[in-house]
Amino acid sequence: MKILLGPFSQILPLSGLPLKGTLQDEQLTVIEKGGVVISAGRIVAIGPYKTLLQEHPDCEVAFIDRPMVLLPGFIDCHTHICYDGTRNRDYAMRIAGKSYLEIARAGGGIWDSVTKTRLADPVTLVENTVARANRHLLEGVTTIEVKSGYGLNFESEVKMLRAIQQASLHTAATLVPTCLAAHMKPRDFSGTEEEYLQWALDELLPVLKAESLTDRVDIFIEETAFSAKAALTYLQKARELGFAATVHADQFSAGGAAVAVAAGALSADHLEASSDHEIDLLAKSDTVAVVLPGASLGLGMHYAPARRLLNAGASVAIASDWNPGSAPMGDLLVQAAVMSAAEKLSTAEVLAALTFRAAPALQLKETGQLQAGFAADMQAYPTADFRDILYYQGKMKPAKVWKKGELVQS
Ligand code: NIG
Ligand code: FE
Repeated sequence: MKILLGPFSQILPLSGLPLKGTLQDEQLTVIEKGGVVISAGRIVAIGPYKTLLQEHPDCEVAFIDRPMVLLPGFIDCHTHICYDGTRNRDYAMRIAGKSYLEIARAGGGIWDSVTKTRLADPVTLVENTVARANRHLLEGVTTIEVKSGYGLNFESEVKMLRAIQQASLHTAATLVPTCLAAHMKPRDFSGTEEEYLQWALDELLPVLKAESLTDRVDIFIEETAFSAKAALTYLQKARELGFAATVHADQFSAGGAAVAVAAGALSADHLEASSDHEIDLLAKSDTVAVVLPGASLGLGMHYAPARRLLNAGASVAIASDWNPGSAPMGDLLVQAAVMSAAEKLSTAEVLAALTFRAAPALQLKETGQLQAGFAADMQAYPTADFRDILYYQGKMKPAKVWKKGELVQS
């Protein structure tokens, strides 16, 4: 069955635009009084509503009777939404001026979430993940990457990745799982960082592969986590095992982005501490630079240099980093809108960063643009002018969201 949706005041297909570098709003195609024909979860045709009505007379019509702007669904290519417990105490201490070390000494930090997530029963983890994914979905985020990394031993990493797999059966959103066993060296592992990473390569990754739980790995490169040298070896070996790579890079100190590029990682994420050298490396590579304004807001620190990355020619995606510690808010559009005002990103650059420029970070081929053959993952905002979406800084939410052509209900 074919359905014609429309007329929309404006449709922004976000197709045919460059993957890298600066974008001006004038480069956006805006279809005024547009329509879209969908069938079996995919887009069949897109264009002026009246033309589609003539060319597809066999369509059922879903009439849009209010001003609406149609966009592709957003892709959040970096989250940690599978976790249990809160870190509200960390946050209260942080805004009161306590340091990272003081918070860790008081029992906070990543290890606190590891302790709570290890104790959680699998059903709770599934429910937590589904609830957060569904909230994202209603806010227009139709594809969500989800990391493990609060397990940090065999049993709990597998528990998390199985929970993510189960969660994907209970939400319409597409979940893309990633193994972040290399989030930090667990406190109860007595060997070196190299020994811990070798354990993951030998004991954990083959099981994840065999159970089809994930084919992606991530590592946190930082003074408090893993060294650049150990990380490069880990990523190269993981790639030999058939895993795609992504990196938590340059969050507090530079060094991770160079490893990401050297390892052929799909993306280097964070980049708050990237200097001209890292920006240049990323711009010359195919590694997507993923900026995470939610972590800057949660930690009260400066944003990643998104403007300079784009000017240098990099591909910039924006993700939420939704996690219990540094980025508990989880509102991707608010974060992107607020960052764009500070970093001076054009509307076109922001919408690109949330859609077709995030797709390669997850190796998604037919998602993130509205064009024939692509998934009918779409969202419609209650306005006649697309500029309102960032103008209201994320407060205006989509009135309708479709996942694979199905209307998502609240
Ligand atoms: O992406 N940077 C490291 N990891 C997470 C934070 C996780 C946590 O604090 O629980 C991040 O910001
Ligand atoms: Fe993260």
